[in-house]
Amino acid sequence: MQQIMLDDEMRRLVAAQGLGFVATVRPDGTPNLSPKGTTEVWDDEHLVFLDTHSPGTVANLAVNPAVEINVVDPVRRKGYRFRGVAEVHTKGDVYEQIVNRFQKGRGTDPARVKSAVLVRIVEVGRLISPAYEGGASEADIVARWRPRLVADLTE
Ligand SMILES: Cc1cc2nc3c(=O)[nH]c(=O)nc-3n(C[C@H](O)[C@H](O)[C@H](O)COP(=O)(O)O)c2cc1C
Repeated sequence: MQQIMLDDEMRRLVAAQGLGFVATVRPDGTPNLSPKGTTEVWDDEHLVFLDTHSPGTVANLAVNPAVEINVVDPVRRKGYRFRGVAEVHTKGDVYEQIVNRFQKGRGTDPARVKSAVLVRIVEVGRLISPAYEGGASEADIVARWRPRLVADLTE
């Protein structure tokens, strides 16, 4: 079994963004992609997210546990793609541990959690915008994108 360790940079990114785009495979082979604001690093080898409103993702995982999660910093235009294998927990120790962590950390009401999805990561790839190809520094990219995002919010 391939073993991937989630490093500090990955941990920081996932914690700072608080948003993963989760891709699963529908039974007909077509893709299913939806955002999960509960995406967190669970431990050195796993990401986790909560199913509160994700019937499609969970139904797909019951048939095919393959999952890919993209987490991207929209200002730095960088991120990671995490490929993994999901376990969907609806009760038991792992479910309780995950729900407890979200309850303590975010005040999540356990009654809202339909299932907790634990994803063992088997491959990680860096995502870097082609905007860097011309030799732009991270400061250049941040200077270009931060005002755009802030402007969006204040419009
Ligand atoms: C920013 C954002 C964050 C979200 N976070 C979650 C989440 O953590 N868990 C969840 O179940 N649904 C979350 N949702 C809602 C699902 O993405 C949405 O219900 C989606 O249609 C589920 O699709 P699915 O059933 O194919 O998974 C979020 C939606 C948005 C816009």
